Amino acid sequence: MPALKILVIPGSTRSGSLNARLAAAAIDELVRADVDVTRLSLGDFPLPIYDGDLESASGVPKHAINLKRMIGAHHGVLLVTPEYNSSLPPLLKNAIDWVSRVQDEHETRGEVFRGRPFAIAAASAGRLGGSRCLQALRLVLSACRALVIPNQLALSFADDAYDETDRLKHAADKEALTAMARQLIDVAQQMK
Ligand SMILES: Cc1cc2nc3c(=O)[nH]c(=O)nc-3n(C[C@H](O)[C@H](O)[C@H](O)COP(=O)(O)O)c2cc1C
Repeated sequence: MPALKILVIPGSTRSGSLNARLAAAAIDELVRADVDVTRLSLGDFPLPIYDGDLESASGVPKHAINLKRMIGAHHGVLLVTPEYNSSLPPLLKNAIDWVSRVQDEHETRGEVFRGRPFAIAAASAGRLGGSRCLQALRLVLSACRALVIPNQLALSFADDAYDETDRLKHAADKEALTAMARQLIDVAQQMK
């Protein structure tokens, strides 16, 4: 049976990103479960801020089409994102907005999201761990008709969440990460 393919997208391209670090921990978990994981950087898909006039004049940018096709080539997606002012950062929202405008041949616009399993996680040095961002992101993805799994992870005090071998050191965080990864795998396997 071909391996389950999961795409992991950190919502931050910052060097030393807490979310990139959490994405790395999630990838370890997925790889241990024999998942074929692709990690993508949104920095490799630079996009202008969505503008309807730009879309009318030149169509959807190639990077948005490529990003959409990357998503479409995987059975499930994990987004690991910072929280900005209680919501999702423009880098991620803008990427979702552009991808929702892509219409490949024999598809409806934004079809890549429909029924595709998504898991969402956030990391923050604060006490709430980006949980308000996850609420907003869940709403956005649900509006795109993605299948957002119930388990999620908001990693609080993320600057002090790892041991010296870069593994999550608190049992509750480890359990939440494992539960989210397992549920993503189960749901993606069912939808495959
Ligand atoms: C514009 C801005 C707004 C922010 N708002 C929040 C917030 O609402 N909640 C929070 O927990 N952290 C907030 N932060 C702090 C980020 O969580 C922190 O910078 C985090 O390290 C960013 O993620 P990264 O390390 O993956 O780049 C904000 C940071 C910026 C730059």
